Amino acid sequence: MIFHVLTIFPEFFRGPFEFGVVGQAVKAGLLEIKVHDLRHWTHDRHRTVDDRPFGGGEGMLLKPEPLFDAVEAIWPERSERKKVVLTSARGRRFSQADSREWSKGLDELLVICGRYEGVDERVAEHLVDDEVSIGDYVLSGGELAAAVIVDSVARLLPGVLGNDDSARNESYSVLDVEREILENRRIRGRKGKETEAVELLDCPQYTRPAEYRGWKVPEVLLGGNHAEIRKWRLRAAIETTNRLRPDLIRPDKVETVDEARAGTKTSQQEVDEQP
Ligand code: ADE
Repeated sequence: MIFHVLTIFPEFFRGPFEFGVVGQAVKAGLLEIKVHDLRHWTHDRHRTVDDRPFGGGEGMLLKPEPLFDAVEAIWPERSERKKVVLTSARGRRFSQADSREWSKGLDELLVICGRYEGVDERVAEHLVDDEVSIGDYVLSGGELAAAVIVDSVARLLPGVLGNDDSARNESYSVLDVEREILENRRIRGRKGKETEAVELLDCPQYTRPAEYRGWKVPEVLLGGNHAEIRKWRLRAAIETTNRLRPDLIRPDKVETVDEARAGTKTSQQEVDEQP
């Protein structure tokens, strides 16, 4: 897969894309990352990429012309397997589901790094396929967000993680879990068991020593009973998810963002209240 990043700070990406799993994958030729300097598509002496907003207001906006020219030069033709994404604080929330979909369904991904003051709206309307945010907070520029997105898609490409299984058993992996286990109810008959596809957080993991400052590793993990270990891990993953991200298991039960933050009516409380 080829990743393109369009930015006014190309130097920024030296670190994130040179080290670690992604850096090694680039060196091994498993993927390509091309960082493009937006100023390359300016035509004035000052290489101007931004301008003041019509109607007044704070800050400067990225101008449309260099962005349109850049994307059209990088890809003279667009296709279903190429996607242009704009990073912005107001965007739809980027998720692991996007990473999975893009790592499978795209040949090329072009990420435009927005700026916190904004980007001329015609870019969102007529140039990009998607506008995404990496979380409900405001960054000073889209570069960090672009690095996050490229990293999270790149690591899912075949061969990038040494062991392909490590992408299957991690937080946000989709599992088919029997509803009764999910809801912590007693399993009655085995007939007609219903399963539900959920994204669970990873279960707690431990390494040596088996006891540290009096804190013991759960006994089941020390024995070699792999069926019991698998069962414990599933239950522990459900417990962790219910505690830290109840919305992943029962999205409909978290009434509003404010209620969830205030700790009222969370699905965790409802799980706790179950007989
Ligand atoms: N630019 C500024 N804030 C951002 C965010 N939260 N996600 C993506 N791009 C951004």
